[in-house]
Amino acid sequence: MMKIFNRALQSEEPLSWFEELYQDSNRDRAMIPWDWRGPHPFVVDWARENKQVGKALVVGCGLGEDAAFLSSLGWEVTAFDISETAIDWAKRIHNESNIKWVVANLLELSDSWMGAFDLVLEVHIIQAIPKEIGQLASNRLAPLVSDSGFLVCIGKLAEPKEDPEGPPWPLSMDEIESIGKRLDNVEIHTSIIPGKESTRYRAVWEKTPNQSLEKPPK
Ligand SMILES: C[S@@+](CC[C@H](N)C(=O)[O-])C[C@H]1O[C@@H](n2cnc3c(N)ncnc32)[C@H](O)[C@@H]1O
Repeated sequence: MMKIFNRALQSEEPLSWFEELYQDSNRDRAMIPWDWRGPHPFVVDWARENKQVGKALVVGCGLGEDAAFLSSLGWEVTAFDISETAIDWAKRIHNESNIKWVVANLLELSDSWMGAFDLVLEVHIIQAIPKEIGQLASNRLAPLVSDSGFLVCIGKLAEPKEDPEGPPWPLSMDEIESIGKRLDNVEIHTSIIPGKESTRYRAVWEKTPNQSLEKPPK
């Protein structure tokens, strides 16, 4: 993984390594380091605590486990990823679901998606993107949320004084808080998931009706 990541970083397309990794795996899930073969436990807990459903957008959906879980609860799910191979693969794995699968780059989303989703879910994306681009990417999330909708972000919490080479690059509390700075913060939960090393966070924000979020800078 580090070889294709380093090659991509030195190229003009620093995010191209995701597609390369999915292609190189030859559809063997064991080759995808972030594949947990099921929804993230923090997504499951959040959905149990928040019974309402609506339109959900799953950002960087990978093999689609969180998208399929939300769909099974009755959410109308759009799931996108920058990798065409990941989207094609997710479609095949979850071929009985009603999910709308889209190949798209978080940094170049359609205007028609702005303010359109009652839930925007991001699991392990911002931490997987080099910090310089990660900041731009995290600014793209809040404008997608509808009035009274939620933004839910999940990832690894950086340990004090940690300076990881990455990927991934765990987020500091300041970086987490800045993702939803233009929304109302509901909670930041942190804990260690049994069987997984390191502390993870789940940050949740809500958009107050009529809260104006101007489009992020390009
Ligand atoms: C660490 S993986 C996590 C995948 C999935 N969310 C999960 O938890 O299994 C990061 C995913 O984000 C996707 N990704 C990275 N940058 C992206 C971008 N700019 N726009 C959309 N997807 C992106 C990658 O292709 C990859 O599937």
